[in-house]
Amino acid sequence: MIAPILRQKSALRAAVKAWKQAGETVAVVPTMGALHQGHLSLVRAAETQCDRVIVTIFVNPKQFNNPEDLENYPRTEEDDAQKLSHHRVDAIYCPDPDQIYPDGFCTNISISGLTEVLCGAHRPGHFDGVATVVTKLFTQTLADKAFFGEKDFQQLQVVKRLAADLDLPVEVVGCPTIREEDGLAMSSRNLLLSDRARIKAPALHEALEDMADGLRNGGTAEELGAIARKRLIAAGFNEVEYLDLRACDDLSLLNKPDRDARLLVAAWLAGVRLIDNIGV
Ligand code: PAJ
Repeated sequence: MIAPILRQKSALRAAVKAWKQAGETVAVVPTMGALHQGHLSLVRAAETQCDRVIVTIFVNPKQFNNPEDLENYPRTEEDDAQKLSHHRVDAIYCPDPDQIYPDGFCTNISISGLTEVLCGAHRPGHFDGVATVVTKLFTQTLADKAFFGEKDFQQLQVVKRLAADLDLPVEVVGCPTIREEDGLAMSSRNLLLSDRARIKAPALHEALEDMADGLRNGGTAEELGAIARKRLIAAGFNEVEYLDLRACDDLSLLNKPDRDARLLVAAWLAGVRLIDNIGV
């Protein structure tokens, strides 16, 4: 059954109020649509942990630092609703833009430190846009739990920090990255890859796995990173924005995995920016 698509926060609030009055717990899965198995894995986790599930679909203009990227972002609402019909989803919240950014909107949520590295260093304003919309989605849905993918590891850390710092009454749950059979992390952006580029794309995940092996064998991130960057370019990538070993909690740069660590990469392939990360 296709869940009702709500476009106004008043309708969303009415539904949530009834659920809460009945003592039910509410989950939110925030997305920008073009849903794939990665998104659906978050929905499955939400289903198992809460009585009610809201999936939000909103292509958030504030988090795009490139107008062309915003314009090209895939929009597939009907398909998305169809995919969600196989799950226990109670509402799909596709807010009209003025429900998120009413006239005169001028509040910005900005998290320092965590957002100044990795994607934050290359996409000015991106995490302010994410933090602002996520805060609004939390307050509009009044969710008890919110589900995010480790695919966007920095985003997950930023959202956890945001919820803790602002005492938002929501538990932020991280879920593992879902991959294609050849190892490529699922992403709405994969739809933008040409057939030729798609064949080359798994090299990104392979580079992470090889580098993680090297680290386990005592190598340093500096020397292994230099080799991996060269291999990515040789495999057809145009540019490696970053390929870093970082501490999971504060994302500080490491040369050896002597704390709980994560390898994170962003690279351009045929005009498409791909990101990935794995635990070490
Ligand atoms: P979007 O890219 O649509 O991703 C929505 C959620 O799905 C995020 O939590 C993301 O980490 C997760 N996800 C994407 N690919 C995944 C994969 N292969 N495996 C597991 N989870 C995956 O991230 C956003 O939208 C936006 O920034 C948003 C949080 C909705 C704010 O606008």
